[in-house]
Amino acid sequence: MVMTADSDRTERAARLTPFFELQLRLARRVRELNGGALGDAVLRYTNFHRRFGLGRVTDRPAPAWRPYVEALRRLTDLGEQVALTQATYLGSPQEIWPSPGRTGFGCFACDDLPAEDLSVQIHFHNGDTDEAGGPLAAGKLPRRKSEMAALVAHIIATRPTVTHIRGRSWLYNLAAYRRVFPPDYGAAAAPIGSEPVNLQGHSLWGQAIDSEEHLRPAMAEAIRSALPAMDPAAPWRAFPLGVLATRSPLRSFRLFYGV
Ligand SMILES: CC(C)(COP(=O)(O)OP(=O)(O)OC[C@H]1O[C@@H](n2cnc3c(N)ncnc32)[C@H](O)[C@@H]1OP(=O)(O)O)[C@@H](O)C(=O)NCCC(=O)NCCS
Repeated sequence: MVMTADSDRTERAARLTPFFELQLRLARRVRELNGGALGDAVLRYTNFHRRFGLGRVTDRPAPAWRPYVEALRRLTDLGEQVALTQATYLGSPQEIWPSPGRTGFGCFACDDLPAEDLSVQIHFHNGDTDEAGGPLAAGKLPRRKSEMAALVAHIIATRPTVTHIRGRSWLYNLAAYRRVFPPDYGAAAAPIGSEPVNLQGHSLWGQAIDSEEHLRPAMAEAIRSALPAMDPAAPWRAFPLGVLATRSPLRSFRLFYGV
């Protein structure tokens, strides 16, 4: 069979549909407990806005979000809402990576502007699944490290005042992710405590899928079974792996990658 961009997108939409359903289940549960419009819960607690190629939500959703929430408002059945989400995804442009204001290096990106404490945050996305495995497979470690080395060289060249690199994601729970970085950076990863977690991206939702974007059955079941007792003020607690934050001096990265 000849694969075209359209057939790729159709396959991807079908593959992602159980992930859409899981996210809709969580948003519906928040709405059930908190009231308000389902569209608001979906905007806040799913990553659909980004999945539909509309980027990160800043002050308000992109204008192209509106037809989706209006159609969603007319539906009460979960199956119909999932079908609408799948169809909307199918008709949407590619997800934006890196987001505006960030510079990308393969699977990594960094913020262009440092924070007040002179640290720069890094971000990860899966842009490297093939027959050799996902982006965190042991065989891909040299590639991930060279991307990080390029990112560090870029920070040194463009932001000479930066002193630290920081990160914030469920991924720091994984030894396979931490091994990409200097040991002190991985070792410093700690839970963020009672801080609210943004569910509009992958910093928590990412744990529910594997590198081929199939739902992980055990993770999905853990999230589903946490919904009945979910605290509507803290839906992020329904996830088995929490967000960890970490921060290390830039010089650790220079030494580790030899930059
Ligand atoms: C991160 C992601 C690629 C991992 O999926 P995967 O199919 O396990 O991917 P890989 O094949 O690249 O990784 C394999 C390695 O990760 C480890 N791993 C992945 N998920 C794990 C988990 N939940 N628990 C323990 N180890 C895990 C595997 O054990 C393996 O390590 P090993 O080579 O030492 O055995 C996938 O979850 C994903 O794409 N998520 C969305 C992106 C995301 O989360 N972004 C975060 C942005 S903040």
